[in-house]
Amino acid sequence: MTSRKPIVAGNWKMNTTIAEGLALVDEMLPRLQALDAVERVVCPPFVSLSAIAERLRGTDVGVGAQNMHPESRGAFTGEVAPAMLEGLVGYVIIGHSERRQYFCEDDAFVNRKVQAALGVGLVPIVCVGETLEQNERDETEAVVTGQVRAALDEVQHVSGVVIAYEPVWAIGTGRAATPDGANETIGLIRRTIGTVAGEQTAGGVRIQYGGSVTPENFAAFIAQPDIDGALVGGASLKADSFVEIVRLAAAARV
Ligand code: PGA
Repeated sequence: MTSRKPIVAGNWKMNTTIAEGLALVDEMLPRLQALDAVERVVCPPFVSLSAIAERLRGTDVGVGAQNMHPESRGAFTGEVAPAMLEGLVGYVIIGHSERRQYFCEDDAFVNRKVQAALGVGLVPIVCVGETLEQNERDETEAVVTGQVRAALDEVQHVSGVVIAYEPVWAIGTGRAATPDGANETIGLIRRTIGTVAGEQTAGGVRIQYGGSVTPENFAAFIAQPDIDGALVGGASLKADSFVEIVRLAAAARV
């Protein structure tokens, strides 16, 4: 039995107004608070972070940003600096495939963000995963290993990082990976972290699965030995389904 505390994070993406986000949190909070065997995080859009962080103050439900710029300040219109998130949130999603795909973020940029996030005491949730084409060409292993190595390059505090393995073909498609297949790739990620930061560190790093996670399929994922939680998109926008996924994570570790 692993001692890694499961972590379930809701990636709300570009959904919810401030009012809708507050209503969602209010609906979930009493039930989420009871599930303290799991690290629970919600990642609303930037404009809602302040209001939602305020609403969650004094609870142990964490708040995360969905992105961040690595520079500390400057002429980067529309971007948000690490120090602006410091004290407001505890987590930041980095290198999500939608950022990589639509906003041209490469591995080197992801690495700078990981370093910047750790530098201000945030927990980076670093996303990696292969596209459908890469999967069909049997490149999953090379792609994912490369992404992990690049993201962690020169990172001192690897134990402070959470990794999310999200096969791109599984995100928002309703076509989740198989639990066995996800566990296999996540095992590979853990071994890769071991070569970068040592086996002991690798054994403590939490690695989530993400991609069409639902209350119906998540029990089989969290039952896998290397899967330590989920990064949840669509199902995190409904109170009942997000709470149920967290509950399944809690139930799997008792
Ligand atoms: P999904 O998104 O759960 O809607 O597939 C997951 C993610 O992109 O993090």
